[in-house]
Amino acid sequence: MSEFDSLISAAKTARVNAHARFSNFKVGAALRTTSGKVFGGCNVENATYGLTVCAERVAIFKAISEGERKFNGIAVVTDTETLTPPCGACRQLIWEFCGDVPVVMANLQGKIEVLRMSQLFPKPFDSSNL
Ligand code: THU
Repeated sequence: MSEFDSLISAAKTARVNAHARFSNFKVGAALRTTSGKVFGGCNVENATYGLTVCAERVAIFKAISEGERKFNGIAVVTDTETLTPPCGACRQLIWEFCGDVPVVMANLQGKIEVLRMSQLFPKPFDSSNL
């Protein structure tokens, strides 16, 4: 048991809806608010490839569009031996919207690794640079 079990489970559930017909790489994410609400997201691909939105950003946009602003963790689940860290674009948005939260990477076999955003994204550009 870990404090992240329910977040990982929500990311697994979100992954089921992944629309990954071009890469076949299904990703699920789940973002937790400080009040305990969880927003799931999956990757959504399209025929132009470049307009694809990652699971993490879908979860963030869902939460932000529902008025949520304070978060304390995000999980990313894939079916790979090597766990999947957020891409560069997602790191930028996780940092800007969630700050130095734990990023929980997990696979369907139960392998888990937790890194903080400050480890994954050590020298960010954000509003403090403007
Ligand atoms: N993808 C995510 O959804 N999140 C990640 O952290 C890594 C990559 C998606 C984008 C694309 O649909 C597929 O995985 C392959 O890159």
